[in-house]
Amino acid sequence: MASTLCSSFISSALIILLVHLSSSSNNLAAKHTYSASHHHRHHNRSPFPNPKLQKAYIALQAWKRVIYSDPRNFTSNWVGPEVCNYTGVFCAPPPYDKKIIVVAGIDLNGADIAGFLPDELGLLSDLALIHLNSNRFCGILPQTLSNLSLLFELDLSNNRFVGPFPYVVLSLPSLQFLDLRYNEFEGPLPPQLFTKSLDAIFVNNNRFSNVIPSNFVGSSASVVVFANNNFGGCLSPNISNFANTLEELLLTNTSLSGCLPPEVGYLYKLKVLDVSNNNFVGPIPYSIAGLAHLEQLNLAHNMMSGIVPMGVCILPKLENFTFSYNFFCEEEGICQNLTSHGIVFDDRRNCLPEKPNQRSQKECQAALEHPVDCFHYHCGGGSSGGVLGSSTAIPSAMMPAAAPLLSPSMAPGYV
Ligand SMILES: *[C@@H]1O[C@H](CO)[C@@H](O)[C@H](O)[C@H]1NC(C)=O
Ligand SMILES: *[C@@H]1O[C@H](CO)[C@@H](O)[C@H](O)[C@H]1NC(C)=O
Ligand SMILES: *[C@@H]1O[C@H](CO)[C@@H](O)[C@H](O)[C@H]1NC(C)=O
Ligand SMILES: *[C@@H]1O[C@H](CO)[C@@H](O)[C@H](O)[C@H]1NC(C)=O
Ligand SMILES: *[C@@H]1O[C@H](CO)[C@@H](O)[C@H](O)[C@H]1NC(C)=O
Ligand SMILES: *[C@@H]1O[C@H](CO)[C@@H](O)[C@H](O)[C@H]1NC(C)=O
Ligand SMILES: *[C@@H]1O[C@H](CO)[C@@H](O)[C@H](O)[C@H]1NC(C)=O
Repeated sequence: MASTLCSSFISSALIILLVHLSSSSNNLAAKHTYSASHHHRHHNRSPFPNPKLQKAYIALQAWKRVIYSDPRNFTSNWVGPEVCNYTGVFCAPPPYDKKIIVVAGIDLNGADIAGFLPDELGLLSDLALIHLNSNRFCGILPQTLSNLSLLFELDLSNNRFVGPFPYVVLSLPSLQFLDLRYNEFEGPLPPQLFTKSLDAIFVNNNRFSNVIPSNFVGSSASVVVFANNNFGGCLSPNISNFANTLEELLLTNTSLSGCLPPEVGYLYKLKVLDVSNNNFVGPIPYSIAGLAHLEQLNLAHNMMSGIVPMGVCILPKLENFTFSYNFFCEEEGICQNLTSHGIVFDDRRNCLPEKPNQRSQKECQAALEHPVDCFHYHCGGGSSGGVLGSSTAIPSAMMPAAAPLLSPSMAPGYV
């Protein structure tokens, strides 16, 4: 499955990088310990092999001072000048000078630490990756992070960060992978988020609201997970601005309404499309039949109606087609028996006369009497359309809060 592949790709790449960083750090740290103690014995010189590591020491000590709980003792060995030996700190030569080592990575995934990020983190100007998944860091991101010009992976997932979208991340020139999921960020997403050349954007499970801006020309992201936020509004035709790169679009539980625009079918690289648990109405756009790479299609828990078109059911890569809890009234051709085509499906709670576990005749009658005309449908309450327009859609009640994750790429963290 695409999302599994994608996240396992990211995690194995990380493991390789970290193993590389940690082995080079051990070798170099060993040499540097020697030279440091050597210097110390004979001359009263700085215990730091280079000024970068001295700055790192200042930064890490400042960080340790604003850590109020560290139940797994990640930072208890953060003492003394040997910063490359600190748990969770990885050193390597920076790209601009292969003869020195600097702090290149911080990995405190799963440390359950409570604390803040201090301004001094700006001194760690050679960081390539920061992984803080599953901690209790709170507050906002320091503006000094803009100093991290080499940072390409920033994972702040599953913490307690608050406030508006952290604009400082937009000033990081090397950033490729941005993971803000499972925090308490709120307010709108800025347009610049989609014009930056990011490969993966995870903003799911926050409190983002309002519109996603539509005034961007194209995005280079291959994975965008918007799920479990309260955006509201409609899916604008401008979603096609993602066409050249987007492989996974997860919009579950984002309070979207209106019809699915035919432009969804322009996202020709899509492997995963999940619009479940929203208030979408109207038919399945026939253009979805053009998504030749589509593996997972989830339309469940909406108010969609009409025919389930054969063109979708014969998509060559389709593995799982979930369209339960809608008002579909007919399955065309082989859509009636997807099992015989090796496709996992769920068609429960629709209005399919021949199938078991359908809605009552009364419910179905009511839906049939009010067919949706997508051409004339106006997105409730909104004038300024975003990629997700604006509206007054009611958040859909769905799974219990502790429901299992819908997709591996929505999971908080990957180690
Ligand atoms: C740092 O790590 C190196 C290599 O693992 C080790 O030889 C050295 O004793 C360590 N230094 C300290 C202060 O723990
Ligand atoms: C952390 O250190 C404290 C004090 O040294 C100790 O009591 C506790 O068991 C340690 N916790 C873990 C998870 O190692
Ligand atoms: C940014 O990094 C440079 C180089 O390490 C350092 O001298 C400077 O103090 C840093 N600025 C901030 C705001 O941390
Ligand atoms: C779609 O994006 C273009 C710029 O690419 C913008 O001019 C237009 O207003 C947007 N349309 C909507 C409905 O937001
Ligand atoms: C759906 O999104 C809302 C935020 O808009 C969130 O409060 C709720 O927990 C989400 N539901 C699930 C099952 O994640
Ligand atoms: C098919 O997709 C649905 C919705 O995403 C999911 O709940 C279900 O577990 C999937 N089934 C299989 C066999 O992958
Ligand atoms: C679906 O197809 C399979 C194999 O082709 C067949 O065994 C099964 O009876 C069919 N089911 C229905 C409901 O037609």
